[in-house]
Amino acid sequence: MENPDGFVDKKQNMTETEAKNKIDELVRFLNEQNHRYYIQSQPIISDYEFDQKLKELEILELEFPQFADLNSPTKRVGSDSVKSFNTVIHRFPMVSLSNSYSKQELIDFDARVRKTIGDEFEYVLELKYDGVAIGVRYLNGALHQAVTRGDGVRGDDVTQNVRTIFTMPLYLRGNDFPSDFEMRGEVLMSHSQFQRINAERIEIGEEPYANPRNTASGTLKMQDSKIVAQRKLECFMYAFYDETNPFKNHYESILKASEWGFKTPDPKKRMIEKVQTIDQIMSFIDYWDKAREDLDFDIDGIVLKVNSLKQQHQLGFTAKSPRWAIAYKFKAERVSTILNTVSFQVGRTGAITPVANLKPVHLAGTTVKRASLYNADQIAKLDLHISDWVFVEKGGEIIPKIIGVDLEKRPENAQRVEFITHCPQCNTLLTRKEGEAHHYCPNEDGCPPQITGRIDHFISRKAMNIDGLGEETVGQLYEAGLVANITDLYDLTKIQLLPLERMAEKSAQNIIDGISASVKVPFYRVLFGMGIRYVGETVAKKLAVHFKSIDALMEANYDQLIAIDEIGERIAESVVDYFSNETHRAWVDKLKSAGLQFKIIATDANIPQTLTDSKFVVSGVFEYFSRDGIKSLIEKHGGKLSSGVSKNIDYLVAGDKMGPAKKEKAHKLGVSIITEDELLKMIEE
Ligand code: IVH
Repeated sequence: MENPDGFVDKKQNMTETEAKNKIDELVRFLNEQNHRYYIQSQPIISDYEFDQKLKELEILELEFPQFADLNSPTKRVGSDSVKSFNTVIHRFPMVSLSNSYSKQELIDFDARVRKTIGDEFEYVLELKYDGVAIGVRYLNGALHQAVTRGDGVRGDDVTQNVRTIFTMPLYLRGNDFPSDFEMRGEVLMSHSQFQRINAERIEIGEEPYANPRNTASGTLKMQDSKIVAQRKLECFMYAFYDETNPFKNHYESILKASEWGFKTPDPKKRMIEKVQTIDQIMSFIDYWDKAREDLDFDIDGIVLKVNSLKQQHQLGFTAKSPRWAIAYKFKAERVSTILNTVSFQVGRTGAITPVANLKPVHLAGTTVKRASLYNADQIAKLDLHISDWVFVEKGGEIIPKIIGVDLEKRPENAQRVEFITHCPQCNTLLTRKEGEAHHYCPNEDGCPPQITGRIDHFISRKAMNIDGLGEETVGQLYEAGLVANITDLYDLTKIQLLPLERMAEKSAQNIIDGISASVKVPFYRVLFGMGIRYVGETVAKKLAVHFKSIDALMEANYDQLIAIDEIGERIAESVVDYFSNETHRAWVDKLKSAGLQFKIIATDANIPQTLTDSKFVVSGVFEYFSRDGIKSLIEKHGGKLSSGVSKNIDYLVAGDKMGPAKKEKAHKLGVSIITEDELLKMIEE
């Protein structure tokens, strides 16, 4: 019997013992390959082989659920949702470090240490990761439980979410680990992940997250571990704990942890260093204060630890922190300036964003005039008054933020900043739904920035990509009464455009040509361009691939929508809501008459052969299609496939988890490396 993935269903001829042995073997094999890939960056099998084995394991686990292992590599993609997290008492309290901000404070610390243990000792220097602390307990080499710091005495059990972190070993390597111990470390979100997530949020009209640390912390506490898996958290380990510590010093324990498979700081990259003098400490600090700009994650200082565990024991703890370690915090780039006014912006979804207008001030290489205030709660929390002196800081985020007020400098009779009650653009009474951070202007169809914002989104690069048309022209067209919604664009004529200010003959023609050309834009981008709340580019692609046409999507009900992988309640509700509006259905009809694409790729007979004459190798894991799906797409469009990278191929379609060796080879041979998105664009063209 053969299932759709091509695997022989062995249920009938596999005994329970055989199945168990096979599952154990696959789990061990895949965990080992994962380590080679993520920790050592030296994979020895192809991604294809990895995926085949993972699928084989998945099928066996479904057939023999009694042997499905909690630490199976199949759990990396997330599993069932949890309603709430259990509280766990830490076996070793999770204390924090005392902080220092100057060389003098470090000299004082060093003197205190020397007074107790003399001069014969060394320090270990490490980075102070700016993330969320986690303690992970291993029993007989298997990941048993991961707990957040909480109040230091008890934290939350977030094991399921931590299992999705690829750099966290599910089973340890070697055989010299204690049978019961805990590793502690810091869970982080890289800048690249943070920016990717925020770009997606902005695209669907949601407020971007404030910084990577809070996002990592929020992600760790999400109920749906599948979403956690997609966010690709990382974790650096910095401490070993067990009842009878087998190590002589801290440095040795970190090296050993690395052998067991943990992601630990790399001495070759100077991420951990053994030193003896204050000068060496200062040199490490100076190095990282600059080099941190090049890291893809945030550090907010360095940590200094006495290396010997015996000496650590001699030094002991204060009520709050160890006497054998101290953090040195980099100076946050912070200035103070005057708050002149607060203005309120209306976004395309009607969300109101308050913005602080500041007396211009120099901060971290730029002049700052504005700072984000997020929402009404933030203004209330800061208790902002006009003419206040405010502290402004720039962190991992792009727009600076106000972190506090200098109350001593508040002028007498200063006016408290009140959040507006009516829309600054159309004067409609604002609403705020329970549980939402933002106020909204509900006048969707009559509020100018919402109308033009939707058109701006429709014409944007990732949607209809209409050449020649920009936000400024959209504003003019709206003012002139020529467009009031996205469909009006397709009625525009050159004669109507010419009277607009600064509109030359050539630009008018460009706009008309750009609009005409946009009817070829594929369905998923049209769908994305319609600006349905929570339907970003990724979701639009998923919906287009699933329903294949707008007609099918418009008829879909809530249950059909949430049955689709990764379409949650909020998205389903929003889609149903959008298409239950008669105006929106009329838009679809009008856009259909204008010739826009509302179906996914044509029938086999008339598929455009856009890839003829090109040879492809496909490798890795993809976002929208399976690897086989990508291959069949290439063949359907006339492209040829090859199994290995050689100088005879034209393109390497690279997905996630592709081995670096393959990439390097392609690079050396001058083969173009393209992403799934780029391939889809080639096909469209
Ligand atoms: S050691 C007993 N090492 O900073 C000492 N902590 O206030 C335990 N942190 O909550 C901590 N990088 O989450 C240590 N290399 C590092 C660290 C580090 C970041 C965090 C940790 C802790 C906080 C200390």
